Amino acid sequence: MLISVAIDGPAGAGKSTIARAAAARFGFLYVDTGALYRTIALSVLRQKVDPSDEEGVKAALPQTKVELGFVDGEQRVYLNGEDVSEEIRTPEISMNASKVSAIPAVRAFLLGLQQELARTHDVLMDGRDIGTVVLPNATVKVFLTASAAVRAKRRVDQLAEKGMTVDYEQTLREIEERDENDRNRAIAPLKQAPDAVLLDTSEMTLEESIDALCALVKREVHA
Ligand code: DC
Repeated sequence: MLISVAIDGPAGAGKSTIARAAAARFGFLYVDTGALYRTIALSVLRQKVDPSDEEGVKAALPQTKVELGFVDGEQRVYLNGEDVSEEIRTPEISMNASKVSAIPAVRAFLLGLQQELARTHDVLMDGRDIGTVVLPNATVKVFLTASAAVRAKRRVDQLAEKGMTVDYEQTLREIEERDENDRNRAIAPLKQAPDAVLLDTSEMTLEESIDALCALVKREVHA
């Protein structure tokens, strides 16, 4: 039987780093679903459409072919055949991904792709609505979070590693704004599934967080 682990939680909780490491330990495919929404945002911006304009975004979808590939277990995302995996990692795309992700047509557009991966692989899928909407029957559901201040600091450090300098206060404001958008949107809002286990990593190191997630997966998989 295939195993699916749903990891949901707010921006900057370290989900992707923690989930990627845990997936590698178990030999599961790590699927970062945020990359899909980011790619839609990039496509919309390239088509000179306002990411908040629902009708405009809908009209842009037929010209937007999104595919995921896995190279040595590393996810790559393609927009109309072009690898845009690096280009989608900017604060501008983060904000616009949050906007397009509130549009029902965008969520419907990406649903099948995510579900298909779980139908064909053991997956550890990271997003906002994986346990609630995409994989309601996931083997294990985890809601991974950390305080906004800790998340802002981690995001600043993460971007610094890539040579990008961003202001802490502004990053914190952006994280709070995105949380607000993601939690309050009408469709598939960010919320903990009733059967998800809460994992708060505010006081944990990265290693401790990875170990805690792996322990949860082991416990649930063997239950
Ligand atoms: O995880 P991330 O920061 O790369 O996600 C980018 C945006 O996409 C985020 O603001 C919320 C949205 N998103 C979503 O609505 N549903 C998901 N499953 C994953 C991301």
